[in-house]
Amino acid sequence: MSDEWIIGIIGGSGLSEGLALEEAQEIEIRSPFGEPSGPVTLGRIGHVRVAFLARHGKGHRVPPSQVNYRANIDVLKRARVTDVLALSAIGSLREEIEPGQFVAVDQFIDRTTSRENSFFGPGCVAHVSLADPVCPRLAKHAGDAAKSAGAALHRGGTYVAIDGPQFSTRAESRLYRAWAGDVIGMTGMPEARLAREAELPYAMLGMVTDYDSFRDDQEGVDITAVLKVMQANSKTAAKTVAELCRALPEKREPVPIDTALEHAIITAQDIRD
Ligand code: ADE
Repeated sequence: MSDEWIIGIIGGSGLSEGLALEEAQEIEIRSPFGEPSGPVTLGRIGHVRVAFLARHGKGHRVPPSQVNYRANIDVLKRARVTDVLALSAIGSLREEIEPGQFVAVDQFIDRTTSRENSFFGPGCVAHVSLADPVCPRLAKHAGDAAKSAGAALHRGGTYVAIDGPQFSTRAESRLYRAWAGDVIGMTGMPEARLAREAELPYAMLGMVTDYDSFRDDQEGVDITAVLKVMQANSKTAAKTVAELCRALPEKREPVPIDTALEHAIITAQDIRD
């Protein structure tokens, strides 16, 4: 394996212009898993190659439950990405995690239903470990970069993934708090699962846009307020990516996730071929 970093960034539609990639080039990559959200923008920030994919497509036209997460991860793998950093808007389930702050998520509770959540299926059975769904090395680099970019950062946090597109009821929001959820969003799963199956170290920086609806004295989540905070955060998000690339060591050392499938496929070799 090469010792070069190629960082895949999955982010909001607005981020791509802010990234200021050198030698940027947009390419369409085909996937046997169907249509990805859009083209991949390849480029460079200093010594690090970057591949950017807008999760909801150009102009934000793909809703969270219709994102083709398998095709998105597959096209990044085909672009020879080595590590994936996801940037996502999230709601807070904790008073101390405030709108405008960033969270380097380290755990997930998956409440999504009926999304394609594996590359494997009939014909080839594999069971990867998801005990630690986030790559600690990438999360550390990403967290450091967010801080250098000026973000107030929480290191670690459990992300509850819901289907949406509606926000949660008050009862659901309180239930997720009782489950020890810290933040909530609509896109982290199955993205994180699929990255692991693709042997791609994955980390997520969540950008807190709102308090979820657990507070009695508060109106429900308001998308206008959410978009306002996202807008205000977008420069910090782009700066975070630039800081990340600047600070990554010249050479990429391998991590165990690079070979996550080594003992995970249990279908006999002779019928896999
Ligand atoms: N994305 C941003 N805020 C959210 C919330 N409160 N619930 C789910 N997804 C979100």
